[in-house]
Amino acid sequence: MARKYLIETYGCQMNVHDSERMAGLLEQAGFERTDADDDADLVVINTCSVRERAEEKLYSRLGHLKGLHLRTGHAPMVAVTGCVAQQEGAQVLARSKLVDVVIGTQRLKMLPVLVAQAATAPSALVDIATPYDEPTFPLGLTRRDDPVKGFVTIVEGCNDFCTYCVVPYTRGHERMRAKAEILREVVELAAAGRKEVQLLGQIVNHYQAPDDPDCDFAGLLEAVHDVDGIERIRFSSPHPRHCSARMIAALRDLPKVCRHLHLPVQSGSSRILKAMRRRHTRDEYLALVGRLRDALPDIQLSTDMIVGFPGETDQDFDDTMSLTETVRFHNMYSFKYSPRPNTLAAERLPDDVPEAEKTRRIMTLQAAQKHIQANLNASAVGRTVTVLVDTKSRRRSWELAGRTAGNTVVNFPGNPSWLGSTLDVVIERAGAFGVWGRPVSADGRPIAYPLTLQE
Ligand code: 5AD
Ligand code: SF4
Repeated sequence: MARKYLIETYGCQMNVHDSERMAGLLEQAGFERTDADDDADLVVINTCSVRERAEEKLYSRLGHLKGLHLRTGHAPMVAVTGCVAQQEGAQVLARSKLVDVVIGTQRLKMLPVLVAQAATAPSALVDIATPYDEPTFPLGLTRRDDPVKGFVTIVEGCNDFCTYCVVPYTRGHERMRAKAEILREVVELAAAGRKEVQLLGQIVNHYQAPDDPDCDFAGLLEAVHDVDGIERIRFSSPHPRHCSARMIAALRDLPKVCRHLHLPVQSGSSRILKAMRRRHTRDEYLALVGRLRDALPDIQLSTDMIVGFPGETDQDFDDTMSLTETVRFHNMYSFKYSPRPNTLAAERLPDDVPEAEKTRRIMTLQAAQKHIQANLNASAVGRTVTVLVDTKSRRRSWELAGRTAGNTVVNFPGNPSWLGSTLDVVIERAGAFGVWGRPVSADGRPIAYPLTLQE
């Protein structure tokens, strides 16, 4: 009988994609997937260490597996991969005897080999090497569960060293993937029927093709745009500092590139931005938002924000609030500052904003942001928008969802066979996190869907 694997993923899209890659490798090695711990012969925990809370998830998951072992005697092999694996290496073994394999972010392709070796090895195996080579991955092996969208990594690692951020230590120095390999993967995605490609990188718009000196990020967008069958292109995350005029022109001129930019700002205070070593000021960020909106009046922006960074005063936080009110983001991911190992902020700056004050600030910020989002979505009621249908509800077969080019989530009734198609929806109702509507034909008439599918 085939051995079964289960992969648990924490963290960002890059991690989600790494898990798809590991799943493909394990299946090539003869494993089959399962969704139940007590059925798994191998549990892979793909970890994140961006904040302390994310890191703790590894240890609570290991505790859970230990409980399973004590209760039922079932003890699958355990592999810890990803950012905590890279950061902690063999120290993971000191915290849990359950772990058989630890694999860093740049050695994921070793997973099947190390799992096989660990089965007979006298002790756990650790591989957190950081080879200085171009990131490559065998094509055709990724297990892609999403029938509509596919991730393609273009840059791995980061050289920016923002003072709060663990990523340069966990993902390593910045490495660009060859343009030819990226395009082969996008063609493969299109051939497999995927309509949307999501380009991934820690600083995606710093891309410079190692195999084509004339191809920067804008050039790559143009090349991906030429791939037949791909209807939408998204990417995350760009850095404000690298949003060149050429990139903005590419967004404007390439219709497949979605009218949404996730543009992390992190703070509205230039003083804090300097302490974070973000290398952009508040005014530079606002000027960039102005340039983007001049070129693309319908672009929707989202962002990441940190509150309670060391030394953040009430005035600094007011600046974050006022930037939020000024830009009016369509979405925001906000976090309380959490000191991370090795980072400059953790080593040099006291974590001096009390926890209760961090909580107060994040709640204030989130309440204001929710209000802004709700208003922006409400202003779309009555409009007809075009969505790519990407989700079927698990509870009700006739409930579908899709996203607009601007990344608004639109819920509507319809036929599950519409998954992957593009259609028009008239918006009837709005909330802070999405809108609801009805599908309509090009001339605005309602589209019927089989009544048998309604519940
Ligand atoms: N504390 C809190 N938030 C952080 N982020 C990154 N590092 C930290 C940290 N030490 C946030 C940033 C980043 C997002 C992925 O996580 O906002 O953009
Ligand atoms: Fe988490 Fe950052 Fe690693 Fe992604 S790159 S898994 S967000 S620590």
